[in-house]
Amino acid sequence: MRPPGGGLSCGPVIELGLRNDVYRRPLMTALDRLGLREGWKCVDVGAGGGDVSVALAEIVARDGRVYAVDSDPHARDLVAEAAAAHSQIVAITQAGEDLLLPEPVDLAFCRFLLMHVREPTVVLERMRDSVRPSGWVVAQEPVTSAGRVGGRPLSMPDARHPDVGALLPALTLAAGLEVVDAWAESQAGAGAGPVREYLAHLTGVDPGDEPVVLPPLVTVVARRPPP
Ligand SMILES: C[S@@+](CC[C@H](N)C(=O)[O-])C[C@H]1O[C@@H](n2cnc3c(N)ncnc32)[C@H](O)[C@@H]1O
Repeated sequence: MRPPGGGLSCGPVIELGLRNDVYRRPLMTALDRLGLREGWKCVDVGAGGGDVSVALAEIVARDGRVYAVDSDPHARDLVAEAAAAHSQIVAITQAGEDLLLPEPVDLAFCRFLLMHVREPTVVLERMRDSVRPSGWVVAQEPVTSAGRVGGRPLSMPDARHPDVGALLPALTLAAGLEVVDAWAESQAGAGAGPVREYLAHLTGVDPGDEPVVLPPLVTVVARRPPP
């Protein structure tokens, strides 16, 4: 299926709540695998509406810090709204290609970002440089064409690299990182429920009772090599 209206996209309507619902499980699997804990300093690159930044902030708590970085100045307002109860979140308008933080962080994270940037490896290199030696870099990116509606593959014409997830382990190695773990997961469903609702918001077309497999997210958990 090639969804109408520009295909899968990241509009403000779906920034909060829905994406969090359907992609919360892969996010929590990744944060669990990593052992994220109180006091960590993190950066969420391509933070968008701040779903991930808020999830990170809830775990690192008041002693931690989360830099929510996005190239779109509008994202600052969205993050500020989402982060009202989390003073440890600092919103910054900056491109991932220029990532420069006031301090080294323990974790650099991105989700649904590399699919949109011109040079994913450059952004991964900047994420590598933003973490302390032996610090963590985690990326979650989709294989869009592996998603299905009624058995037909999804597409995302507006994204530069809609299937970047399929290349993620190799890109991470090319960025000079050590890959610790990598896997793919997604949600599936048919009929009423968050998967159907999410897809309807993304595409403007309700899949009805057709079976849906959302694009799998490939997660790579990597470390910056020690000096
Ligand atoms: C699909 S949204 C993902 C938002 C969030 N990471 C999530 O998973 O809910 C992609 C975000 O990346 C941002 N973005 C796109 N290119 C960027 C770049 N080169 N540097 C930083 N942010 C970028 C967009 O402005 C948008 O907010």
